[in-house]
Amino acid sequence: MKPFWEDEYRDLDRSTFGSPSREVEEIVPFLPEGARILDAGCGDGRHALYLAGLGFQVDAFDISENAIAKVNYLKERGHLNINTCVCDILAFEFRHKYDLIIIHGVLQFIEREKQPQTIGLLKVWTKENGYNIVALFTDEEPVPEDLRDIMIGVFRSGEIRDYYKDWEIRWFESRKFSDEHENGVKHCHAMEKIVAQKIT
Ligand SMILES: C[S@@+](CC[C@H](N)C(=O)[O-])C[C@H]1O[C@@H](n2cnc3c(N)ncnc32)[C@H](O)[C@@H]1O
Repeated sequence: MKPFWEDEYRDLDRSTFGSPSREVEEIVPFLPEGARILDAGCGDGRHALYLAGLGFQVDAFDISENAIAKVNYLKERGHLNINTCVCDILAFEFRHKYDLIIIHGVLQFIEREKQPQTIGLLKVWTKENGYNIVALFTDEEPVPEDLRDIMIGVFRSGEIRDYYKDWEIRWFESRKFSDEHENGVKHCHAMEKIVAQKIT
């Protein structure tokens, strides 16, 4: 079964996951001018479009063709410069390091055994003093029925902090919330977010 967002990505006038997340807006003053940013699993581009609009150099990819088609349409409509590609995160060809890598609401869809390699890549391809913003779902709430086939990698509560124990953790949040999507599907989620800075 395809996830609910695939249909919503076809709606070109509405952002599927809303406005940019608070921590993405709040990191902006800490980024150097012209910073290079990667939005991994960008969806329909709420973060990539916002950051490109501020003049940053943004690369964005997603495994969903509908997602990237929508980002391409929106970037052209907004005269924004974003390098996009349809790509699985483990196949993404890194060409340079980034000041900020965002991976928001994606890692729980990656198999457990591939998560260390995935997060390892994000960390390696971050510049010294650069940041990672990670948001993911944990096992503090059961996996919603309609996402059971794809949400195969929920994290243990607090686990993401261990991945970043060799970086400075600038901000951490753990919270539960419920949401309702366009097709009427309701979800309860336990989400953790981390903003970590590479200081080695
Ligand atoms: C819940 S959405 C979040 C989208 C976006 N990051 C946001 O915050 O608005 C999850 C996205 O991850 C993408 N995704 C899932 N597995 C992926 C993978 N292995 N590689 C790249 N993208 C992936 C999905 O296609 C989907 O667009």
